[in-house]
Amino acid sequence: MTVKTVLFDLDGTLTRSEEGITRSALYAAEKMGFTGHTQEEFKAFIGPPLFASFKEILGMTYEQAERATQLYRERFSVLGWQENEVYAGIPHVLRSLRKNGLRTAIVTAKPQMFAERIAKRFGLAPYLDAIVGPGPENREASKAGLVARGIERLGGPAVMVGDRKFDIEGGLANGAMTVGVTYGYGTEEELVAAGADAIAHTPEALLDILLPPDAPCARGLFLSMEGVDGCGKTTQREALVAHMKQLGWRVTTTREPGGDEVAEKIRRLVLDPVNTQMCDETEAYLYAASRAQNVRAFIRPALMRGEAVVCDRFVDSSIAYQGGGRQLGTQRVAAINETAVGGTLPDATVYLRMEPDKALSRRLSASEPDRLEREQESFFVRTYEAYEALYAADSTGRVLTVDASQPIGAVTQEMLEKVDARLGELAAAL
Ligand code: TYD
Repeated sequence: MTVKTVLFDLDGTLTRSEEGITRSALYAAEKMGFTGHTQEEFKAFIGPPLFASFKEILGMTYEQAERATQLYRERFSVLGWQENEVYAGIPHVLRSLRKNGLRTAIVTAKPQMFAERIAKRFGLAPYLDAIVGPGPENREASKAGLVARGIERLGGPAVMVGDRKFDIEGGLANGAMTVGVTYGYGTEEELVAAGADAIAHTPEALLDILLPPDAPCARGLFLSMEGVDGCGKTTQREALVAHMKQLGWRVTTTREPGGDEVAEKIRRLVLDPVNTQMCDETEAYLYAASRAQNVRAFIRPALMRGEAVVCDRFVDSSIAYQGGGRQLGTQRVAAINETAVGGTLPDATVYLRMEPDKALSRRLSASEPDRLEREQESFFVRTYEAYEALYAADSTGRVLTVDASQPIGAVTQEMLEKVDARLGELAAAL
């Protein structure tokens, strides 16, 4: 059977949502006087409809379960829904399914409104054709009914992917193929006993099950970070990496100059303060050489695996520093780098914009300066101006300019909002 539609359960299949669910369920139970339970015990609440869990697992009456559901939602709607993360590898799976022309949807027992909010906040929405869940009044919606709605919306033949027996049963009731995933909250025994047609132990294993062996997978995402020395790039890079991981990306981080062992040797050579006699052309070629190595040793293989590569500096640094700072000319430096990178270019570049004098005062309070950092202030002014000219000319949408002179938290927020918007654009173009 050639599958055309893939329906995913949300909790335990696309997202690891235990934190928000168990904390909110514990909160509701305690408010109702059902005390003495641990957060761990509420893991059983993940998957089945909430109302039923309060009745069956905690032994509540209909009215109590109704009130508990209400209390749960109180906490969940403010805090719980954000205490969540996407399983590592999921964006790659969704992107690859779409690349092969399959339709995808979430089918969940969670109120549709929350599922939509989560899908948007955690970057899944751009890869989905539909999100199906119960409306606010529909407390006991069965998975079978929800799966039926999913198939009605997107057409068959369909496969239902989930981590609990409810998902498998719901799929089977609708004549869908079923795949159980064991990285969520159910066990392999539970899924096999429910009649799952196949089992996936990792998100990526879904691609082996759902796509033909020679199907092309989606390429990963290449993100670079730029800015003059002292702009706060290291701190923001860490925040960006953490964010991408929360969105389910497997992340490879690298820096330039640098990368593998060969590229790191070039780094030491080019940044060593003893090399005062190094001429500007040599410097430009060394940066390009380090980059050629990094592209082939690290960046391309990671992109082929569908990962997100976060690279601290890339070609634009050479254009700004050697082209502008060293006055070799931005066109010439761009030309040197063309063969070095061979068409491997970032999908998005975070540019942490900071005026050179402000960056200088930050640098002076930092650690021992390397060869580049010992340059005159005028060098950094030219570098800054080259960045500005380069990015003013960009019409691709790749450059995300962030005001780096704000307090750290505000810089992070602006950066992540812009990254999310760019990820949405890239998804639409997939
Ligand atoms: P690094 O210690 O990585 O600085 P930062 O943490 O500020 O990125 O050193 C990189 C130095 O090399 C930095 O001063 C910028 C410079 N550089 C260039 O001049 N050209 C380039 O192509 C690259 C990648 C870096």
